[in-house]
Order: sequence, then structure tokens, then C-alpha cells
Amino acid sequence: MLDCLERIGGSPGRSGHRMAVAAARVVAETRVALGELFNIDDPSRIVLTKNVTEALNQALYGLVGQGDRVITTAIEHNSVMRPLRHLEQKGAEISVVPGSPDGALDLESLALALERPARLLVLTHASNVIGNVLPVAEVACLAHAQGIPVLLDAAQTAGAWPVDVQALGVDMLAFTGHKALFGPTGTGGLWLREGLELEPLVRGGTGSNSELELQPDFLPDQLESGTLNVVGIAGLGAGVSHVLACGVGTIRDHEGCLGARFLDGLRQVPRARPLGPQDAAARVGLASFNLDGVSPSDVGLILDRRFGIMCRIGLHCAPAAHQALGTYPVGTVRFSWSAFTTEGEIDAAIEALATIARG
Ligand SMILES: Cc1ncc(COP(=O)(O)O)c(C=O)c1O
Repeated sequence: MLDCLERIGGSPGRSGHRMAVAAARVVAETRVALGELFNIDDPSRIVLTKNVTEALNQALYGLVGQGDRVITTAIEHNSVMRPLRHLEQKGAEISVVPGSPDGALDLESLALALERPARLLVLTHASNVIGNVLPVAEVACLAHAQGIPVLLDAAQTAGAWPVDVQALGVDMLAFTGHKALFGPTGTGGLWLREGLELEPLVRGGTGSNSELELQPDFLPDQLESGTLNVVGIAGLGAGVSHVLACGVGTIRDHEGCLGARFLDGLRQVPRARPLGPQDAAARVGLASFNLDGVSPSDVGLILDRRFGIMCRIGLHCAPAAHQALGTYPVGTVRFSWSAFTTEGEIDAAIEALATIARG
């Protein structure tokens, strides 16, 4: 990113001079790296956005209109639920498939919901509250049998779990850059399968077809108006290159081992109540729990002040998931780990929790 600021600094597609060309190359290289990571044949169908929320909004508002029905799950993040509830106020119909108390998706209820026509099925790849991974390939198969396209929110999995759009069979993939892709905040994107058309959320300058006052009708320009976050995209490209060099499988194995260590440790902590699947192999690198008798906000405060450990507490922007888990409205304490986390850090976290639990 520093190199991009110091040496490049141009605006991609806005001129033919060397700095503009170099900036366009940075953007193109990032798109190619993302395409490789997600097994996308045509990287020009990846639209770069400022986060997964923007990508999801583009997909939802670009596709869903009055009278359309959308199916989703009860464990979605507000980045899906809030646009859907707004679309509902504008005349769309939203069907929410319930989640079970262990966070799993009820496939029977899903199959029932899919029996009536729908414009779209939107779901998360993994719960951001308890980390369980949903059976997306199976779900996409069921949806396609009814002619319903699938939009996947891969915020929690991109970079940390295999995300192959062809193997999963999804039609749109939304991802954020600042989690397991190791990009900076303010980056993300949306991929659309060939043949899918979205109404743009934003229209404006693209550097292409400038003689026309109408928005270009080709990707990515159709959905990418205004000057891009080239510096952020350079960082995202570097992050994705790092993930590709390590291999998602290696990262996944590392996070799985840390997960098993964390869950084993948590079982020894007095008053700890872990949530979700206790098998680390079935979840991404995060875990939610509560300590009986101590509020999540107190646990978070003590961890930060006394131990220098930072975690997320509360409802994690997913109130319906907490309702299904029985942890609404107080929420939980949530820890997450990544490719860079060490076993020593996991042990230190468990030790800190045990100290807090002992009072
Ligand atoms: C499953 C899920 N979806 C969406 C989001 C929103 O991400 P962003 O704020 O980067 O748009 C998050 C972030 O925590 C998430 O975990």
C-alpha cells in the first residue's frame, strides 16, 4: 500500500499516462488473484466494493423488486437482514428459515420454503456468532432444482475456508477484504455468474464509454462507478496473494488446531458455557461463550484492561442468531483467531478467562 501511494498514485482507467496504467494494473492483478482464490473463470465479473455490506446491498437492491420473494436464514448478519427488511417495507416478501439452538440450519424448513417461487436465496457461509459452516453446496442444489439463484455471504470464510464458486454452485459471492483476506478495511467485492444482471446501486464515471451519458452495460464498469480505492485494493491484492502462497488448506488446518485447543481449554474454565458445535473441524476460527454470573461486557472490559486481550462482545450484528441460541439480548463473548494466531496466544486467552471466572 505504501508502494502504491509513493510510486503509483494514479487513477485507473482515467488516463493513458504511466501512473494511471500502473494503478489499473494493481486493480487488475487484485481481481485476478481473487479469481484464482474463488475459482472464478472471468475476473472481470468481480466488482470491487468498500466491504461485503455494500456488495450484499448491490446484489439485493440490484435484483429484488416489489412483489419478489426472498428466502434467507435466521442466522444472517444485519448486512443481509436490514436491506431485506427494508425491501419488505417496499413490497418484497421475505421468508426466514429458522435456525436451531445449536446454530444449524433446518434443512427440512429450507426445503419447504423453496417449494414456493422466489427471486433469490441469500445465506451466510458461516455464522459470525458461533462459526458453524453451512452446507452451501447442498443448499444451492436444492435451490437450483426450484430455479432459485443463490447469493452467498462469504465474510467469515473467504481466505480461511475453501470458497470455490463452482464447487459450491452459488450464483453470486459477496466478500469483505479486512478479515481472512488480510486486506485493509474499506475493501470487498461481489462476483456474479455470467447471465445475471443487476441494476446498479450507483451510476457515474467509469473512465469507459465517456462519450455516452448512459451507464456502461458491461462488468465490472456497470457496477463500479467513481474512483476506486486503489491503495486499499493494492493491500487486498497483497493479502490475497499471501493467502494463495500459504494455501487455504494450510490456513484452515492451523485455525482448526487452534480451535480444538481453544474449545478444550474453555471446557476447563469454571462457569464457561460454550455455544455451537464443539467440533472445531465444523467451524471457522471463532467461538462464542458466556461465563455464568459475569456479563459479556464485563468479561470484554476485564480482558482488555487487565490482560490486553481484545474480543467482541454483545450481539455481533446478528440479533436473530442470538434469539435462536437463547442468548438474546445480552449476547456472548466472542473470540476469533487467524492464520497469524499462535498456540501461546490461545493458552494466554484461556488462562485469562480462568482467572476472571475464579473471580
Ligand atoms: C457474516 C458477516 N456478514 C457481513 C458482515 C459485514 O462485514 P462488513 O462490515 O465488512 O461489510 C460481517 C462482519 O462481521 C459478517 O461476519
